[in-house]
Amino acid sequence: MSSALRLIFLGPPGAGKGTQAQKLCEERGLANLSSGDVLRREIRAGSPLGERVGRYVRKGELVPDEVMTAVMLETIAALPPGTGFVLDGFPRTVPQAESLDAALTRVGDPIHAVLDFEVEDATIIERIVHRRVCTQCGSWYNTRSLPPKVAGVCDRCGAPLAQRDDDREEVVRRRLTVYRTQTAPLIAYYERQGLLRAIDAAVPAEQVEQVVRQVVASLDRKG
Ligand code: AP5
Repeated sequence: MSSALRLIFLGPPGAGKGTQAQKLCEERGLANLSSGDVLRREIRAGSPLGERVGRYVRKGELVPDEVMTAVMLETIAALPPGTGFVLDGFPRTVPQAESLDAALTRVGDPIHAVLDFEVEDATIIERIVHRRVCTQCGSWYNTRSLPPKVAGVCDRCGAPLAQRDDDREEVVRRRLTVYRTQTAPLIAYYERQGLLRAIDAAVPAEQVEQVVRQVVASLDRKG
């Protein structure tokens, strides 16, 4: 079994999974595997996969399990051996989690912990409506809580920022309903496995970051 860290970030849309995954992966040299980013890349490229999944993403519905599982298991398998990773947005249903468990068990590299980012709906909607994403490098901003130095321009690469198609309020509400019905059962699923770590994600991002660091440090100590 490889000692590289393997984590899942779980939580509703806008909980801050992507923000925290970006920080932790940079700090620890982990691969940042965001299922949403993988899908958006395919959609932008106009690939056959992108055409197949685009209508689900635009409506805030989940992409079918068999498609999503194949894509993410391939993404994990393509990592150099021994690479640690954060899975952000995958798995999102119990069948996806079961397929992931089976695949990781086969190679002897199980997940170390599942960080569950908890935030109530009103905060989520407020955050997502103000979110902006770099059209070039994918960095996240928030016009209220995490503005770029120059409005509309990425601090990291200077490219323009844009709003995601599925960040309109009515689509966000649908994504929340989908989360509560189809993804929230994973909380009990991972609790039963003793992997769940609840994180209060309603506090400022820097505070969430500190808690994430503490959780990761406790995993380091356990070896
Ligand atoms: P995906 O891209 O995974 O979206 P999501 O899970 O809905 O998550 P978000 O990216 O919206 O939020 P986040 O938690 O990463 O928050 P962020 O850090 O950006 O999925 C998109 C779609 O793809 C799905 O709807 C589905 O169609 C499809 N899909 C993806 N995975 C799938 C799967 N496994 N199966 C089937 N379909 C799948 O933060 C949000 C905002 O808040 C930002 O502006 C940020 O700056 C700000 N912020 C972050 N933290 C804080 C804080 N602590 N305080 C204040 N502001 C904060």
